[in-house]
Amino acid sequence: VTITDIPTPALVVDVGALDRNIRRMAGFFTDDTCRLRPHVKAHKTAEIARRQLAAGSCSGLTCATVSEAEAVAELGADLLIANEIIGRQRCDRVARLARAQAVTVAVDSAEGLDAIGAAAARAGVTVGVLIDLDVGQHRCGLRPGQEALTLAHAAARAAGVALRGVMGYEGHVQAIRDRGEREARAGEAMRMLVATAELLLRAGLPCDIVSAGGTGTFDISGRMAGITEIQAGSYALMDTDYRDTGVPFEQAFWVLGTVISRPSAERCVADCGHKSMTKDHGNPSVHGIAGATVTALNDEHAVIALPPGAGIAIGDRIRLVPSHTDPTANLHDVFYVIEGDRVVDVWPIARGYPEQR
Ligand SMILES: Cc1ncc(COP(=O)(O)O)c(C=O)c1O
Repeated sequence: VTITDIPTPALVVDVGALDRNIRRMAGFFTDDTCRLRPHVKAHKTAEIARRQLAAGSCSGLTCATVSEAEAVAELGADLLIANEIIGRQRCDRVARLARAQAVTVAVDSAEGLDAIGAAAARAGVTVGVLIDLDVGQHRCGLRPGQEALTLAHAAARAAGVALRGVMGYEGHVQAIRDRGEREARAGEAMRMLVATAELLLRAGLPCDIVSAGGTGTFDISGRMAGITEIQAGSYALMDTDYRDTGVPFEQAFWVLGTVISRPSAERCVADCGHKSMTKDHGNPSVHGIAGATVTALNDEHAVIALPPGAGIAIGDRIRLVPSHTDPTANLHDVFYVIEGDRVVDVWPIARGYPEQR
């Protein structure tokens, strides 16, 4: 089977490029000061997570949702759900996972702490917690300092949970194009996180984990004293947004489409619109046709401006490079795994909201 045999639109992943990205990132964290905790949200694929763990340097895996944690539970890794888990059913699912493996969640409220503690007590297990800090992204998280310390004291006293440390995701700096500015802004964020970790330690509280980072800051935050692990995800597959930051990873996945129309010499249309890839970080790039650009991405159509003399015919396969990995992977049921043009495997993606099925 080759890529001309699979139905389009489809996600194709080049396993060689994927493994090189995974090895490169694992290789950065081989000394023991900071570990890697690859983020599953980027791909939602157990086989990719397995390869990330097998490459070494990992403290475990990061997930954004309970469903992602369930999808990779079979790997038996130390799981961090780097997100607030609210609601009895969700907390009970976390507690169920904690019967078989270490599971830690982020908390930024007394309500969140009570909910996960109660679920853990009902199941007779212990769930780890990290105090989630807002280090500048202004999403979830408590302000660094006293607020965080107060919740940490409560976590240390609470039944059913074990305080493991703090986390603070510097999401607001990941895609800053200028390396110097990215370093400066990540540095500011990480100093807040490390200062709060030190507050916990001075108060006699446990703080073994200080978790942060992403693909744009792995070699900045990952080299700051006091940071113990980096939660990067997109590096494995990559997208145009991260390409433009200059991070040292190669494109490893594409949306494959079929040319369905060739209305003029300078235009072709493929069957892969934004139902097959998101455009929240801009239109995709065209792979392998110098000078070609995507001018519009409609529901089911990619409109592509071609350079003079481009030998593109109706029925040809083309590859587009998505601008944002995570939500694009979430639109597909499987990755077709390729070596050159050969399809060598198919990996299921734990996409969407499995609890609805
Ligand atoms: C909490 C958290 N940690 C880490 C990441 C890093 O992911 P990436 O490497 O894809 O930027 C994200 C991405 O959104 C995140 O939400």
